Amino acid sequence: MSASIGLGKIILLGEHAVVYGYPALAAALDRGVAVGAVPTPAGGTLRVEIAAWDLKVSVTDEHPVAQAMVALADELGLGRPSITLVGDAQIPPGAGLGSSAALAVAAARALLVRTRGKADPASVARAASASEHVMHGRASGIDVALALGGGIGVFRKSTGLRSFACSALRVLVGPSGASRSTAAMVERVAHETQSRVDDARLRELGGLTDTGAEALVAGALPDLGAAMDRAHAILADLGVSTGQLDELCSTARAAGAYGAKLTGAGGGGAVIAIAPREHEAAILSAWKRAGVTGFVTVVGGGAA
Ligand code: MEV
Repeated sequence: MSASIGLGKIILLGEHAVVYGYPALAAALDRGVAVGAVPTPAGGTLRVEIAAWDLKVSVTDEHPVAQAMVALADELGLGRPSITLVGDAQIPPGAGLGSSAALAVAAARALLVRTRGKADPASVARAASASEHVMHGRASGIDVALALGGGIGVFRKSTGLRSFACSALRVLVGPSGASRSTAAMVERVAHETQSRVDDARLRELGGLTDTGAEALVAGALPDLGAAMDRAHAILADLGVSTGQLDELCSTARAAGAYGAKLTGAGGGGAVIAIAPREHEAAILSAWKRAGVTGFVTVVGGGAA
């Protein structure tokens, strides 16, 4: 059984504003979800099993993942095939790291390969978007674009992901362990901004993406860090940070980070930091003392 992959992601700048059409700077992780398709015993219906997430659902269950898989199978025109999607995950669920899009992309690829012999990217993207709509409501599509295509780039709803080449960037990721709902956080921002695209905070977040992307390409990491710090403050003002996320960011800065912020929807989930290499161990130790086991991921570094 060969596995189909969907990658996790981090958003360096621009989450939430991206839902309103502003750009976001984001990168695929070097890890995600791998899924293989096997026959469901005794002709049973479509199922998903991800041991690392303690997840075992059938599409007939009352479960968000079951509903998402129904939308995905419907979009692919597959009905309810007698297939079990058996997966292995290297990212935690509900942590702002794109786990649901990674699963959706891997599942769509595995189903298409099993039933039609090949998985074309356009069908996978449509099916994964249908699944994400069920999971998150008003999603921008950024998670699916990265889960599917990998790389690093600037994403806009209107143009999709524009990848670019840059030197490899080491990013510290701290999953807080607190779960949250992306849909609820997107609704919170809608309430806070009254869904006004010209809200000054959303506009500033979009501008920080441009500043940060230029800094990244120029290798000016202190400037990228400063943009991340400012983005975190705006996201906190929009009501999507938590005391724990603020604390993890402050801890990282005090231990020598260029900058730190929440990543993804917020309300829990993960923080990210960039730092001079010699300060990485101190940041990870400080997070550990705060009860968070972080890791370093390397993004970018390849051709666009
Ligand atoms: C979720 O990874 C990022 C948000 O901007 C929602 C989205 O873009 O779909 C909060």
